[in-house]
Amino acid sequence: MSKSHFIWGTATSSYQIEGAVREGGRGVSIWDTFCQEPGRILDGSDGSVACDHYHRFQEDVKLIADLGCNGYRFSLSWPRILPDGTGKINPEGIAFYNRLIDTLLEHGITPFVTLYHWDLPQNCKYGWLNRETAKAFGEYAKICFDAFGDRVHNWMTLNESWCSAVLGYGLDVFAPGIQDSHLPYIAAHNLLLAHGFAVQKFRAGGYPGEIGIANNCDWREPLTCDPQDLEASERALQFFYGWYTDPLFTGEYPELMRSRLGKRLPEFSADEKKMLIGSTDFLGLNHYTSSYASGYPPQNAGSEVVGNGGLSDDQDVYLIPIPGAEKTDMNWAIVPWGLRKLLNWIAKRYKNTPIYITENGCAAPEPDEESAKNDIMRQKYLRDYIAEAMKAKNEDKVDLRGYFCWTLMDNFEWTSGYMRHFGLVRCTPEKLDRIPKGSYYTYKNIIKNNG
Ligand code: BGC
Repeated sequence: MSKSHFIWGTATSSYQIEGAVREGGRGVSIWDTFCQEPGRILDGSDGSVACDHYHRFQEDVKLIADLGCNGYRFSLSWPRILPDGTGKINPEGIAFYNRLIDTLLEHGITPFVTLYHWDLPQNCKYGWLNRETAKAFGEYAKICFDAFGDRVHNWMTLNESWCSAVLGYGLDVFAPGIQDSHLPYIAAHNLLLAHGFAVQKFRAGGYPGEIGIANNCDWREPLTCDPQDLEASERALQFFYGWYTDPLFTGEYPELMRSRLGKRLPEFSADEKKMLIGSTDFLGLNHYTSSYASGYPPQNAGSEVVGNGGLSDDQDVYLIPIPGAEKTDMNWAIVPWGLRKLLNWIAKRYKNTPIYITENGCAAPEPDEESAKNDIMRQKYLRDYIAEAMKAKNEDKVDLRGYFCWTLMDNFEWTSGYMRHFGLVRCTPEKLDRIPKGSYYTYKNIIKNNG
């Protein structure tokens, strides 16, 4: 692959940037509803205006083009295309994405389209606990392939299903806000089937291009060489990335999950296995942070044990912060070398399947314009993480095809509302002006020097 084919992009998602939730015939999503529940969102806000991208997308595409990006990852809002989740198509929704896609292509930017980034139509009864939602997703996917498949050749089915399942149906943190220790396994199962149904439609329809999935994972470094720590690290990775990726290769959940969970883990039927095996052309990786993993409880009772994102009793892994690592405004440790190790782990486990880093970025405290323009922490984060990604690609020969920085502009950061800033460009809900930050120029230089 020649150097120039590497994709340099930024990533966004529909609910986080579009706004215009009651415009253009859009239906209601579970996030519209969730944001209305008191206490759910840190600043009591929602995505109803967000970055007003629905009206300002041309300006945003220009910002992406000026960065020198040759790719842009964005998501389609399912309720903007199918307001009720199934049934009647909303022509205004299709028209909006047609305008966006055409504008990107006019600027020489390849669209990488995610079909689902958490804004499930409210009408999909019982959400991901219901197999019907997976079926409905397959139908919705086909509508998108038919409408945009002549120009979009790079598709991702689902964004971070781990978050949908664990945060949405396990920890009561994300929409739809359910707390349970078993339901995440059911939700995850239906999400994987949804991926399978969509890919089945894609392949049967003979649409040009490739289809994959964007799964998230932190790196878990074994605390010591003790076999218990080595296995704890492996177990944590299988419970994280493997949970949503192994089935696409083997039709089965990872062995360490199966042996621990037994009958609590749903099984795929023979037909479903057939549908899932080989159902991804590439792997997306959303990655932000790392920690140590140990099989033993920390000896020093005073040492801070970071949670492992739930389902901890099942995993039985102790996560320990990496000493001295600086933390982002999300309180996530900055550990660039974790990315290189994780890319190698993925490449090895999945036989060097092509990988895109579909998200990576840094939240920095930015109370005002001045601090945003001098976002030193983010500049360093990007330089260091990208350097490690390049080592994985060039020295370790991981088949890395692209890098998408999260995110183009400050946006609705889910339960943090507008209180956390990830953007290369400043954008506040009060003043929707787009103001490039220091990191915008840093990233522009990185692209220029590597392009
Ligand atoms: C999600 C994004 C989110 C980002 C930062 C990822 O989990 O895909 O939507 O904004 O991380 O929290």
